Amino acid sequence: MLIDSYDRVVDYLRVSVTERCNFRCQYCMPEKPFSWVPKENLLTFEELFEFMKVAIDEGVKKIRITGGEPLLREDLDKFIKMIYDYEPSIDLAMTTNAFLLKGTAQRLKDAGLKRINVSIDTLIPKIAQEIAGKDVLKNVLEGVDEALRVGLKVKVNMVPMNNMNANEIIDVLEYCKARGMSIRFIEYMENKFAKADISGLKSDELLKILSEKYSFSDDGFDGTSPSHYYTMDDGYRFGIIEPYADDFCKQCNRIRLTAEGNLIPCLYFDEAMSIAESIKKGDIKGAAAVLKEVVRTKPEKNRWGGDDAEVSSRAFYETGG
Ligand code: 5AD
Ligand code: SF4
Repeated sequence: MLIDSYDRVVDYLRVSVTERCNFRCQYCMPEKPFSWVPKENLLTFEELFEFMKVAIDEGVKKIRITGGEPLLREDLDKFIKMIYDYEPSIDLAMTTNAFLLKGTAQRLKDAGLKRINVSIDTLIPKIAQEIAGKDVLKNVLEGVDEALRVGLKVKVNMVPMNNMNANEIIDVLEYCKARGMSIRFIEYMENKFAKADISGLKSDELLKILSEKYSFSDDGFDGTSPSHYYTMDDGYRFGIIEPYADDFCKQCNRIRLTAEGNLIPCLYFDEAMSIAESIKKGDIKGAAAVLKEVVRTKPEKNRWGGDDAEVSSRAFYETGG
């Protein structure tokens, strides 16, 4: 079992298979083109899988595939199947922008994928275009429908922003509710790659808008999800992710691996250790030692909130948030 210095059990690994993305979401990516990590620096699926085995053997129980946009990487279903075949009980999930899900959802499900998280920030095509940098909404919604049809569980993320999509909070919630998908509102996390003038809604503002229409009870945190949950009178549950809250990191159970093989202990900080060399040499013990060291050095909490608040300099697109 992997336990950090604050007695948190780390059993959740997020694996970014590429930092590349076909969207340029305002809250995530720089507007102008910039250079990507060269493809030859990426670990192959075989190499990534070698590390998945190490992590599973050390106690990881949940693996989420992220990007950038993971579906940009060819043969992703084969990578999913490798993990599934090694340990079918792994909670195997993926975060995707859903643009390429149509036509691939069935293959991913058959390979062993159980769940996906997608962003639906708006239901208005023009606003979606403004947020993502291109006309994406039709493909996204069709992709989501197909995922539901093939039996993948779908969770939706929405980042509510002033003067953008804040007036659609209820509409997006209702859209998700009608399709049996849960929704989590994510407070915008400041980072130096995002567009400068974004103003995200904080949890108290979201709750105010929601309470004008619904009544709901506060369920607090459940287990290891970073989300604060609320249950509406009809039983529908929604969540709010509040990275600025003081207790956000208290139950954090996750570490992140980039496509180049950097293992990152915290979403906020830049610090990382590479497993690439050990994995390329077939040095399984070495890779396990790096994993344990990264878990040992996991920081107590991020610095978005509190007195020493700062803007994170880590690129979210490297590790899919
Ligand atoms: N703040 C909040 N959420 C973000 N995401 C990406 N960047 C940010 C940010 N700066 C979320 C998106 C997406 C997921 C991959 O991460 O909503 O659903
Ligand atoms: Fe948007 Fe996700 Fe791509 Fe970032 S990685 S630009 S959040 S779709």
